[in-house]
Amino acid sequence: MADYVLAPSLLAADFSRLGEEVRLAEEAGARWFHFDVMDGHYVPNISIGIPVLRSLRAVTESFLDVHLMIDNPDQLLASFAEAGADMITIHQEASTHLHRDVHEIRRLGPTAGVAINPSTPAETLSEILPFVNLVLVMTVNPGFGGQAFIRSALRKVERIRAIAAERGLTDLHVQVDGGIDPETAPDAARAGADVLVAGSSIFRGPGTIKENYDAIQRSLSVAV
Ligand code: DX5
Ligand code: ZN
Repeated sequence: MADYVLAPSLLAADFSRLGEEVRLAEEAGARWFHFDVMDGHYVPNISIGIPVLRSLRAVTESFLDVHLMIDNPDQLLASFAEAGADMITIHQEASTHLHRDVHEIRRLGPTAGVAINPSTPAETLSEILPFVNLVLVMTVNPGFGGQAFIRSALRKVERIRAIAAERGLTDLHVQVDGGIDPETAPDAARAGADVLVAGSSIFRGPGTIKENYDAIQRSLSVAV
């Protein structure tokens, strides 16, 4: 697999000028954005939610991937779908009835993703894999941007790819989120990730958004 999606994580953007930051990332080539929702319960932080997603939807046609780091995600699926999510990803650990929630997301319109934390084994997803479009392997503990990449999570990316291959699930996206930069991106890609989320390294990196975005793209071009 040689086609990678580099998805800027808006958590690291300047929220006072979110539309402008999205536009700059689009000028750099981004067409998929990662939108982190935190509730202060499931994770020890609060970020952005439904009204911000709706505002963003009005100014971009890019793919909006909504990562719900919230308890009881079933209660808000319809609201996020209505506000314009193209994909909704829920945590395996936060969903009581994962099969039901995944089917509900797809019934509402968006594609469905399921996320696992660094401590959660890949095998916990073996039964749900045929019903999701994407698996998000967290490469940091969720809740904050700018944390150090957890390298051992890459073995789980390989494991997810192996389970998916056994079942003939060749269309499954495997996403990594947390600590992705020009050094870690190629390792994640080699392990089997095809959607790479990067927040700090794009919006708060050493150069402009375009320079930072290009640096990760260049690192990926020599990944395989
Ligand atoms: C962490 C979020 C990530 C975060 C990644 O809870 O899920 O999407 O924005 O940030 P960086 O790329 O800075 O590690
Ligand atoms: Zn995220």
